Amino acid sequence: MLEIEHLTRRFGGLVAVDDVSTVIEQGRINAIIGPNGAGKTTFFNLINGTFAPTSGRIRFRGQEIGGLRVDEIARLGIARTFQTTTLFNHASVLDNLIVGHRLRTQSTLWDVLAHTARLRNDERICREKARDALDFVGLSPIANRLAGDISQEERKRVAFALALSTEPSLVLLDEPAGGLNPEETEGLSELIRKFVQHGLTVCLVEHKMNMIMKLADKIMVLNYGKKIAEGAPAAIRVNPAVIDAYLGSEHAEV
Ligand SMILES: Nc1ncnc2c1ncn2[C@@H]1O[C@H](COP(=O)(O)OP(=O)(O)O)[C@@H](O)[C@H]1O
Ligand SMILES: [Mg+2]
Repeated sequence: MLEIEHLTRRFGGLVAVDDVSTVIEQGRINAIIGPNGAGKTTFFNLINGTFAPTSGRIRFRGQEIGGLRVDEIARLGIARTFQTTTLFNHASVLDNLIVGHRLRTQSTLWDVLAHTARLRNDERICREKARDALDFVGLSPIANRLAGDISQEERKRVAFALALSTEPSLVLLDEPAGGLNPEETEGLSELIRKFVQHGLTVCLVEHKMNMIMKLADKIMVLNYGKKIAEGAPAAIRVNPAVIDAYLGSEHAEV
């Protein structure tokens, strides 16, 4: 689904992503782990167009996407969530989804405003899509609550719904379980499995090792921007280089 070849991104003298080649496999849960600062979020930022690669290639379903704009990549079918979920706290959950969808698919604020003014018919379709996304993540009962009044776990689910609202085929999830208790983490894992059951491909960055080991089909390990290992969870768990760089340290949460 996504082929990454020799992907590199420098920030001044720092090589945040260093010559990484990998494949994100269709219909699977592809996980990325590694210590803080390893380049995981930057890897996502390159795939979704937040940053252009310094060098290397990113092919999505055969098409080169490295250097395209965020909205262009969103419309091709790649969505993402962020480590922190920023919502409009004084708007309803449903309205957050409607606005969020436009912010993801329009290239400028002018487009967002023009679009919002223009469309009465679109408005209805947009609302239906937003409701479908909320239904999928189990948040229909709180669609009309203010986003500022919902729980941390519900915010995470809103972030998932926002990602789904652009009808992606690939979803990048950046530490979705951060700050959640084990029970909430299990609920979110269930939801991630549901993504795959519905034909989506998932790429997941997460620190919670129990969750990753149970959920991932494949794990890539980054350290100082470099890929140091890749394989099935059982193999990664006992890989000496991985234990040395990550699993043996305090970085990995259980
Ligand atoms: N926009 C940026 N400008 C400069 N340095 C950055 C930027 N984004 C990330 N970095 C640096 O790149 C490295 C990798 O960061 P990041 O991808 O956020 O790591 P991770 O998500 O694995 O914790 C870090 O050293 C970070 O400080
Ligand atoms: Mg990060």
